[in-house]
Amino acid sequence: MNPTVKNILQKEYLAKDDLEFLLSSAEADSEALFQHAHEIKIARIGRKVYFRGLIEYSNICSKNCFYCGIRMDNSRYQRYTLTDEEVLEAARYAHDNDFASIVLQSGEQSSKAFTQAIENLLVKIHSETNGKLHITLSLGEQTEDTYKRWYNAGAHRYLLRIEVSNPSLYARIHPDDNRHLHKTRLEGLALLKKTGYQVGTGVMIGLPFQTISDLADDLCFFRDFDIDMVGMGPYIDHTDTPLYAFRDQAPDASKRVELSIKMVAILRIIMPDINIAATTAMQTLDPKGREKAIYAGANVIMPNLTPVKYRDNYLLYENKPNVKDQPDETRKALEKHIRAAGDEIGYGEWGDSRHYKWRNGEISKW
Ligand code: 5AD
Ligand code: SF4
Repeated sequence: MNPTVKNILQKEYLAKDDLEFLLSSAEADSEALFQHAHEIKIARIGRKVYFRGLIEYSNICSKNCFYCGIRMDNSRYQRYTLTDEEVLEAARYAHDNDFASIVLQSGEQSSKAFTQAIENLLVKIHSETNGKLHITLSLGEQTEDTYKRWYNAGAHRYLLRIEVSNPSLYARIHPDDNRHLHKTRLEGLALLKKTGYQVGTGVMIGLPFQTISDLADDLCFFRDFDIDMVGMGPYIDHTDTPLYAFRDQAPDASKRVELSIKMVAILRIIMPDINIAATTAMQTLDPKGREKAIYAGANVIMPNLTPVKYRDNYLLYENKPNVKDQPDETRKALEKHIRAAGDEIGYGEWGDSRHYKWRNGEISKW
C-alpha cells in the first residue's frame, strides 16, 4: 500500500522515511498535517504562547559562518556591545510587562572579560527583577567551566543551534578550521545538558545543498538527543556572505517558509511536550510566517527588546522585520499574531518546557 499523510499521522512512531514523506507532501495534505499538529499542541500543552524578550547584547563575533551577516570578516556593520544599564532597562521592560523570560544573545566571544561581564549581568538582572525572570542564554560555544559559571549565576536555559545535523553539510557552510567544528557543537550540547540547563537547539531550513533527507535527519536528531526546546527557521540570503554566491542552489523563499512550517508541525507531532519557537526568520520571508508557525505547533515567540539604535547592526540576515519598532509596538503586533492563530499569551508564566520538567523528574509525562 502506498503511504498517505493520513495513515502516517495515525502511526505511533514516525521513522525517517515517514518524516521525509510528510516533508514532501503536497499542499492539500500539508493542511491536514498542520491541523493534526495544532490539535496535538492543544491537547498536550494547551493554547498558551510564551514571550521571551530578546536582548541582542553584542554583534562582535569571533566566527566566520558562511551564511551569517555578522560574521567577523563583514566590515559593513559597526560593532557594538550594550552597556549593563541598557541590558537592565530591557530586562525591566520584560519584567514590568509580565514577559517572565528573556534571552540574552550575542555573537560568539570567549574572552575572560566577556564571560565575566555575562556572569555579572546575570546577577544584576536577578537582583533588579527580584529573581522573577527566567534567563535563556544564546552565546555560542563555550567551555564547560563557563557554562557552569553562568548556570550558577542564574541562567536557566541555553540555546545552541546545531545549524544542520549532517556533518558534511555543516562543513560546506563553515570555514574549514578548528573553530568551526560540528563535533564541538555536539559536545557543547551534551555539556549543557550535563550542567543542568534546559537545552535548546535548532537548524536552518532551505539552505543551498540541503536535501529533504537532511531535514528528516534534523528532526531525528532533535528526538534522539531528547532536546527540550527548538528554534528553527528558513535560511535567508545575505549579500555580504560567501553563501550568497550559491543562492541559486536553495529553494525559493516561499518553499523555505513552507518547509519551515512543516518542520514545526512534524516536530510538534513527534515531540509534543517540548518548546518550539515561532522565529523571526519565518516572519522575514512571509508576513504571516509566525502566525502559521504558531498554528502548526509553536508555543514560544521572542519579541525584540534590543534598543532600536543598535538593531541595524544585528542583521544576521537581510530584510529582518520590525527593526524600527519600539517594544510596545512589537508586543502589540505579536499579540495580534497569536490571537489570529486562536491562541493566548502566557503572561507572567515562565513557560518552561514540559519536556525538561519531565526529564528533571518535576512532573509525570502527561
Ligand atoms: N538566515 C537564517 N538564519 C541565520 N542565522 C544566521 N545567519 C542566518 C541566515 N542567513 C541563524 C543561525 C544562528 C542564529 C543566531 O541565527 O542559525 O545560530
Ligand atoms: Fe557568529 Fe553565530 Fe553568526 Fe556564526 S552564526 S558568525 S557564530 S553570530
